[in-house]
Amino acid sequence: MGHRFMGRAHSNAWNQVTKFFDPALKPVLQVVCGRDEESLRAFADRWGWEEIATDWRSVLQRDDIDAVDIATPTHLHAEMAIAAAEAGKHVFCEKPFARSVSEGQAMLAAAEKAGIVHYLNHNYRRCPAVLMAKRLIDDGEIGEIYHWRGAYQQSWLVNPQHPLDWKLRKATAQAGPLWDLGSHAVDLARFLVGEFREIDCRGKQFRSERPLAEDSSKSGQVEVECAALMTGEFTNGALASIETTRYATGRLNHHTFEIYGRKGSITWDMEDMNRLQFYSGKDLPDRCGFRDIIVTDRLHDYVGAWWPPGHIIGYEHGFVHAAVDFLDACAAGGVVSPDFHDGIAGLKVLEAAAESMKSGWRVSLAS
Ligand SMILES: NC(=O)c1ccc[n+]([C@@H]2O[C@H](COP(=O)([O-])OP(=O)(O)OC[C@H]3O[C@@H](n4cnc5c(N)ncnc54)[C@H](O)[C@@H]3O)[C@@H](O)[C@H]2O)c1
Repeated sequence: MGHRFMGRAHSNAWNQVTKFFDPALKPVLQVVCGRDEESLRAFADRWGWEEIATDWRSVLQRDDIDAVDIATPTHLHAEMAIAAAEAGKHVFCEKPFARSVSEGQAMLAAAEKAGIVHYLNHNYRRCPAVLMAKRLIDDGEIGEIYHWRGAYQQSWLVNPQHPLDWKLRKATAQAGPLWDLGSHAVDLARFLVGEFREIDCRGKQFRSERPLAEDSSKSGQVEVECAALMTGEFTNGALASIETTRYATGRLNHHTFEIYGRKGSITWDMEDMNRLQFYSGKDLPDRCGFRDIIVTDRLHDYVGAWWPPGHIIGYEHGFVHAAVDFLDACAAGGVVSPDFHDGIAGLKVLEAAAESMKSGWRVSLAS
C-alpha cells in the first residue's frame, strides 16, 4: 500500500531480493494500492505489479494475498495493519510505527491474535556498518557505554514555499521530526545501547504557516514541531542526546551517531554509509586514533550477496536486506526484528519526549 517514495523503495526491494539472495519464499507483486488510478497504473507498469487497487480493504479479502506492505502516511498504519492481521496477512510496516502507544498496542494485539509475522521497517538496522557497530559493542570492544549522540537532520523545510503536506499535520503525522526522523534515531539507540529510562525534550517552531498543497495562494497552520532536541538516560546509565530537524540548512539526510565507551568509540554517518569509524583504546598510545572500517568485505553482514569486496552498496540495499529476512520469517513462521514490540518500545520513548516537550519536565519511562 502506497506508491510514492517508500512505494518505490519497497517495490525495488521486492524485485531485487530474489536476484541477489535466496529467500525461502519468492515474492509475487500482486496488487499495489493507492488513491490515484492513473499514477498507480504507471507505477505498476514500471515496477512490475500485476494489478492496481484504490480500495485497499477489498484487497485484504483476497485469498491470493499472503502479506501486506504498508508504505502510507502514519495515521493509516494502525487501521491497515489491524485489518491485514485480522485477514491473516503478514505485515511489513513503515515507521513511525503509529501515532500513539495505544494505537501500537492494538496493532500488536491484532498481530499476535492472528499469529502473523510483523515487521517494522527501521531499515538502518540492516546497513552493514550499523551491524558492524553492533558486533563491536557485543564483543566488548568499546566496553561500558558513556554517551550516545544521535542526530537526524534534514533541510527541506528551510524553503518557505514547501507546502503543508501530511507530514506537517498532527492528524496524519502525529508529530514533526521527533516522530518521523526521531523514530529511526531512537530505534538505533535502543538497538545499539539499550532501553531508555528518562527523557527530556525541547521543541521549536520556526515557521507556523505554510502554503496549502491544494491552493498555494492560501496558507494553513503547521501543527507539528519544526525541530526537537532530546536528551535522556539509558537504563544502563549511558547518557543520550538526539537532535532531529528539517531546518538544518545544507543537510539533506544527515543521519549520524557517535558512541563513546570506556574502551573505545564508534561513529557513523548515513551519507557515508559504508564507513564505520572505530577508536580502540587497545591501540598503542603513539598510534591510536579513529580508524575507518569500510564494510564492503564478504565478512560483513549481507555484503557477500552483492558485489566483489570493495564495491559499495547504498540506501536501497537496507530495504532488500529487510525483504529477505521478512520472507524467511514468513516461511518459518518466525520473528523478524524490529517488530511491533520494538514499535511500542520506541513509541514509549517518543511519547515521553512529546510529553516533556509540552510540559518542560523530565519524564520517566515506566519499566
Ligand atoms: N524507512 C524510511 O527510511 C522512510 C523514508 C521515508 C518515509 N518513510 C515512511 O513511509 C511512509 C510513507 O511515506 P512516503 O514518504 O512514501 O509518503 P508519500 O507521501 O511519498 O506516499 C504516501 C503514499 O500513501 C498513499 N496513500 C495515502 N493515503 C492513502 C489511502 N487512504 N489509501 C491508500 N493509499 C494511500 C499515497 O497514494 C502514496 O502512494 C510513512 O510512514 C513514512 O514515515 C520511511
